[in-house]
Parts: sequence; structure tokens; C-alpha cells
Amino acid sequence: MINRVPLVFFMDSGLGGLPYLQWVKNEKPHWQFVYLADHSCFPYGSRSTPFLKERLVNITSRIVELHHPDLVVVACNTASVTALDTLRDEFSIPFVGVVPAVKPAAQTAGVDKIAVLATDKTVKGKYLKALIRQFAPDQVVETRAASDLVDFVENHLFLADEEEIKEALDPYISLILEKQWKVIVLGCTHFILLKPWFEKWLPQNISIIDSTEGVGRRILHLLPEDLSSPFTGQVPENIFHITGNQYNEKLYKTVAAQYQMILSPLKDKVS
Ligand code: DGL
Repeated sequence: MINRVPLVFFMDSGLGGLPYLQWVKNEKPHWQFVYLADHSCFPYGSRSTPFLKERLVNITSRIVELHHPDLVVVACNTASVTALDTLRDEFSIPFVGVVPAVKPAAQTAGVDKIAVLATDKTVKGKYLKALIRQFAPDQVVETRAASDLVDFVENHLFLADEEEIKEALDPYISLILEKQWKVIVLGCTHFILLKPWFEKWLPQNISIIDSTEGVGRRILHLLPEDLSSPFTGQVPENIFHITGNQYNEKLYKTVAAQYQMILSPLKDKVS
């Protein structure tokens, strides 16, 4: 039981964890949220496994010291498939990770072809291959690294107009149609922010699958019973930490404001 407002910490290399935060916030608007965009180490998809493990342990320690979260959401497929076990070994608080939604995709696809779009590291790693073997052993599942799209979402999407978004997505729309993929797994959390655009420009018989709701429900399920006062209409101040000093301040201020958070640079002593 928690006799105060629960505090949930979400982390990603950048903006990809925001859809998960938004989902939980819609359910529990009076809860406290801390977000971390580890921009100084972006993109995680091109980092080595030892680097990522050490980085994630260090940055989590800092947030735990600062905010004492009740639960940590590793809202990044690359970080989860690489370092979730290490994080669980190091800390005693509960962790929720995210992995490409191969299981629901396999259930949806039947005989249709599935594609998983993810980072280079997730596509090359053992974890995704094991998920496919486990949940879609007899189905056609193709994987594709889309690092340029990760960069587009992180550094441009929130200030882009529709034409620029179309230009970034066009090669993937063409690829999906050409390969006749019918179920697309958004296996990098950044791509979830593109979901409405994929849905707008792809035919309706193509399903776009992501893990937001499943992960959101898991977060609610894992947190102890919340005995804090019910929502009174007062939204708490949520914090959006960002590491490094090489980021586009206008963009991150826009994002933080859109998600009703305060942008708060985190002095980066560990990268
Ligand atoms: N959002 C992350 C994921 O889900 C990775 C993006 C990056 O390469 O930093 O894999």
C-alpha cells in the first residue's frame, strides 16, 4: 500500500517512452511522473552492450537517489533487451521493460506476413530472435532496422509539418506495400509516436501493433494499492529530465509542455 501519490519513473534514450507515460497518466492523472531522455547517449541502438548496461545502472542510481520512484519503466526496447536483467539484479525496486510486441502480432497475423521495425541493435540481438522463435515459429516474420526513423522522431518530429513527416515515412510505406507485410510491429518505442501517421498513410488492412497498452496495464498491476487522495483536478508537477547539452532546447521545451512536464536538465556526470 502507498499512502501518498505513487511516483513512476520512465526512461528512454529520448522521446520514445512518452506514449507509455501518457497511457498511465490518462488512467492516473493524479500520480507523479518523472521522465528521463538520456539524450547524451542517444541513440542507444548504436551503443555496445557493456556500455548500455553500465550507463543504465548509473543513470538509474541517480534518479533513485533524486526521486525514490516506486517503479521504473525501461520504456526502450533496446535498453530492455540489453540490460533489464542487470537492472533487476542491481536494484530492489520493481522494473517494467518493453519488448517488441511479437506475441500479439503473431495472434493477429494468421498466415499474413509480419514485420518488426526496430533499432539495429534490437534487430541483430538474440532477444528478438528468441521472441520470434517462441511466439511465431511457423509464421513469416521479417525484421528491419530503421535508425533514420529513430533520428527523425527524436530530432525533428515535434517541430515537423505534415509534408516533412510524409517524406520521412515514405520509404517505409513503400517498403511495407512492396513486401506485402500485413502486420507491422513497432519494435522501437520512438516509432509509437509515428503510429497515427502510419495509420493515416497505410491501407486499413495493415495492422500496426505496439506494446503501449500491455505495458501500461502491467505498470498499474504491479504498483501497490494506491491510498493517496483521489484526483482533485490538481495536476502534479511532473519532471522531464534530459542529459547532455547538445539538444535542441526549443524542441524539448515544446515536448515537455505538450506532456505537461517541466524540462529539467540533469547534470551528466556519468557518460
Ligand atoms: N527508443 C529506443 C527503443 O525502443 C531506442 C532508440 C535509440 O536507438 O536510442 O529501442
